Parts: sequence; structure tokens; C-alpha cells
Amino acid sequence: MDRQEEILPTEHEVYHPSAEAISEAVIKDYDALYARSVADPEGFWATEAKELEWYEPWDQVLDDSNPPFFKWFTGAKTNIVHNALDRHVKTWRRNKLALIWEGEPGDRRSYSYYRLWQETCRFANVLRSMGVQKGDRVTIYMGRVPELAIAMLACAKVGAVHSVVYGGFSEQALADRIDDAQSRVLITQDGAWLRGKIVELKKTADEAIRRSPVVEHVIVLKRTEQEIYMEPGRDYWLHDLLALPIAAPTCSTEVMDAEDPLFILYTSGTTGTPKGLLHTHGGYQVFTSTTLKWVFDFKEADRWWCAADPGWITGHSYIVYAPLILGATSFMYEGAPTHPYPNRWWKLVESYGITILYTAPTAIRGLMRFGDAWPNRHDLSSLRLLGSVGEPINPEAWRWYHRVIGKDKCPIMDTWWQTETGGFMITPMPSVPLKPGSATRPFPGIEAEIVNEEAEPVKANEDGYLVVKKPWPGMARTVYGDPDRFVSQYWERFQKQGYYLTGDSARKDEDGYFWIIGRIDDVIKVSGYRLGTAEIESALVSHKAVAESACIGIPDELRGNVIWAYCILRSGYEGSDRLVAQLKDHVRHETGPITVPAKIEFVDKLPKTRSGKIMRRVLKAQALGQDVGDISTLEA
Ligand code: WT7
Repeated sequence: MDRQEEILPTEHEVYHPSAEAISEAVIKDYDALYARSVADPEGFWATEAKELEWYEPWDQVLDDSNPPFFKWFTGAKTNIVHNALDRHVKTWRRNKLALIWEGEPGDRRSYSYYRLWQETCRFANVLRSMGVQKGDRVTIYMGRVPELAIAMLACAKVGAVHSVVYGGFSEQALADRIDDAQSRVLITQDGAWLRGKIVELKKTADEAIRRSPVVEHVIVLKRTEQEIYMEPGRDYWLHDLLALPIAAPTCSTEVMDAEDPLFILYTSGTTGTPKGLLHTHGGYQVFTSTTLKWVFDFKEADRWWCAADPGWITGHSYIVYAPLILGATSFMYEGAPTHPYPNRWWKLVESYGITILYTAPTAIRGLMRFGDAWPNRHDLSSLRLLGSVGEPINPEAWRWYHRVIGKDKCPIMDTWWQTETGGFMITPMPSVPLKPGSATRPFPGIEAEIVNEEAEPVKANEDGYLVVKKPWPGMARTVYGDPDRFVSQYWERFQKQGYYLTGDSARKDEDGYFWIIGRIDDVIKVSGYRLGTAEIESALVSHKAVAESACIGIPDELRGNVIWAYCILRSGYEGSDRLVAQLKDHVRHETGPITVPAKIEFVDKLPKTRSGKIMRRVLKAQALGQDVGDISTLEA
């Protein structure tokens, strides 16, 4: 709630698309399309689904007989890889560039659709030879390299369920995710380049496997080439496997039911263990491709750069699957935006002729800091559209992005969505007037609303719960292995109405524009990354000096929020700067660099409810010097 003043501009600043922009846009009349879509959502999604190829058609578009476990396109046979690769290599697209990549050290590679398809086939054959079958889970722990996309596609091709763990996570986080998914196979790399240094992924993977012994085979990509430990009989170099006769460049694609699982992606929630959101082949391919096609107005000649990490949903949906389904050319960059200088991104835009750039507010703020001279040294005139995702974009960053990067001519698509939603939910399209800081209005087929405790819509400009009233094809189907948690987390609150609870608070203005305020649960967005307080707290208490801890998010100009941690020490330990440093190191090691608290404070007591729940909002109000509000449930 703290940032709302900054987010809501007092004057109503509106950016209208030019007549030319509207005439070039795929969707020229949002209102008409939206009205048509919600009048008959099933008909609407069926029309979009017919844009794709299916091995066998569906019997039913939406099966809502067992809410909230909705099913889409039931009876259909498909495989997302058929739409992403197989069908393209039968057309002229086989020669089109699918992926252009640049490594941080400056090495370059590119893949035509044909080559990407072949590499996927070869990798898929390797997986099959290791006994990976339909339904098996495979964990992928890699950096931003083409092989990560190939590994995901190869899993999907053989019907295995991939679980990509972000390379910025450390050993405990990785071990927990391997355990939860029970992956027998892990795909990783020796190291990844970041800011000129090596992130030792294999080393972390080794330690994670020690904690989670279910892993039988490890496939290792050689990238950074430092000496690493390879366990005989368990670890294999990818290049050795690909040199075997089994790694033939053709491979059959597993025929899947539309509702068969495609991937698990872990995200932070309100309790300690991360939730594995499960997405499926059928509905997800329809939803991600439709949203990308319209919001970013895809044209055949575009060069699309989604600068997210493939380890997050943004990368799954909009680096890997949707662009390939659309037959687009994607660009991917391995390293840091500021390496070796703060012009790296702008240099990339110029040298590859990027036409659409999609990134996060935290990255924009980070680059804005270095001033206009860095982008101004480059020709950015190839850009025609910009995008933002991950957290509310503050109007100042929006205006800089618009003026300095987009030269006042590129509309900014501020897309609100979540790991759970699979794709864009509230977002403009190029023909829609923009208000800096607002994700504008719902995507066609999506009915979003702001409601109060009683599930009634609130008045214009009033805060409330952001909910989605009707199912959509890209929605997560369950929490892997824990359907009860899926129900309790997202559906119980407005069970009677059947609304999906997003966990965000928001408001809607008199024009029906949505303004996202932030999370209402114990989830903190740090640099756009979604972190659960519980996971960091358990990392802290796993240190021998800490008895109990509580973490909160504090607004930060650059990173959106930073974490402050409060710790009660075990007897015999005393707070000191050295202990603070040790604890930070410990968290970095356990859960990863992004989870490290900016501040650690030692306390004797934490505010708790009588039932023993930590009242983080009290800590936060105290930290910000605000009124602590209703503390009637506070323990005496
Ligand atoms: C949470 C979901 C969606 C892919 C990346 C994040 C926040 C996301 C926006 C936006 C305001 C946003 C919300 C949401 N969020 N996009 N455009 N404006 N807030 O996925 O890690 O699942 O996080 O990110 O709080 O609930 P995620």
C-alpha cells in the first residue's frame, strides 16, 4: 500500500496511439473484441485454438464440472512442440531464424527453425535413451543459454514434465524443488557467465543432489570450461551424449492429451515450501500464443527480445513457447545488462535490430540510473514497441523508458500476470490509450474485477482484492502433488462465487483502467522476483545462531522492495556486525543471492497473534514509522 501515491498520478496523463499506429495494429478495436470475447468465451477460445494444429480435435472446449479443477479442450490430442517446431519445419519457416543468442563474453549463435528442431530431436533422443518417459519429471538448472530452451522443448517432445529452477537459486532451494518433483534426471551446466564472473551451477547442483538423492543422471553442458567435478556413472557431458549414435536428428513427438502436464514451475507462496504450479499442453499453447500475438502485435519481420530469465514464467511463456508457436524470431542474451558497460543492452538492440523489447521495471530503473548518454550513443530506431512486467512500473521509469528508449514513439505494454495465470491477463494492446503505471484493461476473454471481503465490486478508485471471475485456458491446473493447497490458496476465499484470488490488491479508475497496488500476502517482490518470506525465514533459522525470524518487504527506489529481517537469537549468541555478515552469507548459500536481506536486526521478541502467527504488517508499519493499525489480535 505504501507505493500507491507514487503509482497513481494525480493528473490523468493519457498517451493516445497515433492513427497510424492503430491502422497498423492487428487489433484495432479492443472494446469490440473484448465485448465479443466475454459474451461467448468458449467460442472465442475455440476460434483461437483453431489457429493451431491438433492431432485430434477436442470434444469440449471447457469442462467446468469439477471446479476449481477446470479442463480445457478435453479429448484433444496434441503436443506443444508440434506447434512450436514440428509444423514449422514443413514450411518455408524452416529457414527462418528462431533464436539469436549472444553470450556475455560476446560469442554469438543463431538457430533456424530447422536447426532448433534438429537439436531438440537429438536432445529428446538422449532423454529417451536415459529412460525418460511420458509423465517423468526432469529438473533443469541452467543459465540463459540456447540449450536451456532446447532442454525444455526436448522434455516436452518426449512427454516429460520439465521443472526449471532459476539459476540464481542456491542449493537448498534447488534440493527442495528436485525433491518435490522427484526428478531422476537433472540438466545443468558447468557454469554461467554473469558480470564477467562464473556462477558455479554444477557445484551448487552437486550439493543439492547430496541433499536430495533422488537424482540418478546429470546432464552437463560445457559453457564456462573451468574444472568441475564429474561423478562417474551419474554425470555426463552433453556433448558426449550428443556424439552417440542414439542422438539422431529426428525423433517422434509424443502424442499428449490436451490436459497432460507440460511443466511444473515453482513460485513462492505464503508457507515455507514452494508451490509447484502445474501447466498443461493444450490450453497453455492457445493462451500464450494468442496473448503474445495481439499484445505485442507480432509481425513476421519482428525481432523480439524478452529479456527475462527462462527460469521464470515470463521466459517459459514468452521466450520459449509462444514466440516459437507464432514462428517468430527471438533474441536471447546471457548476461548482465551493465556488462562490461551500462550500454550493453542498447548496443544489443542496435546490432541485432530489435523491434520489440520486453523487460521489468527494476531493469529499467537500474539502467535509468546511468543517465541518458548510454542509450543515446546507440541507434534505437528499430524499436517499435516496448513492454514491462513483474511489478507496478512507477511513472518516472515509465516516462524515461518511453522518452529515452522509445523516442516518444513506442507504446509501452505494461502486462500484469502471474506464474499461475500462464500468460498476460491485464494488459494494453498497441491500439489502446495508455496511462503510465496502469496495466490498463483485461485481455479479451478475461473477466477481472476488484472486490471487497463480501465479493462485491468496489467503487471506482477504491482498493480491493483483484480477482478473476471466469476460468481461462492458460490457468495453472493445480499445485503439483498438493491439490488442497491449490484450493485453499486461490479458490477458498471466494468459493461461493468461484472467483480466482490473485493475491494482489488493486483499484480500477473511472475509465475501467486497473492500477495494481501490490501483494496482500507474505510475498515480496524484489527486483521483480517473487520471494516468499517463509523461505528466507527458514534459511535464517537453519543457521545455528537463529531461533526465530521474520522478514518484511520495504519499498526501495531501485529494486521495488528490499528485505528486512528480524531475528531472535538462540541463547549463548550475541548480535554483532560479524554475525549479520555471516547470516547474509548463509542465506546467499542456502536460497540464493536475490534472497539476501538488505538489513538484519536482532530483537528479543516478534509481534504475534494469540494463535502464534507473526504479524509482519506490524513490523512493517513500525519500520516505516506508520500507524500499526488494528492490533487487537496481538499477543499480550
Ligand atoms: C506477481 C506475479 C508475470 C510474470 C512475472 C511475475 C506482480 C506482475 C505486474 C505488472 C504490477 C505486476 C503482481 C503479481 N506483477 N506483473 N505489470 N504490474 N504488478 O510473475 O513471479 O508469478 O509474480 O507479480 O504482484 O501477482 P510472478
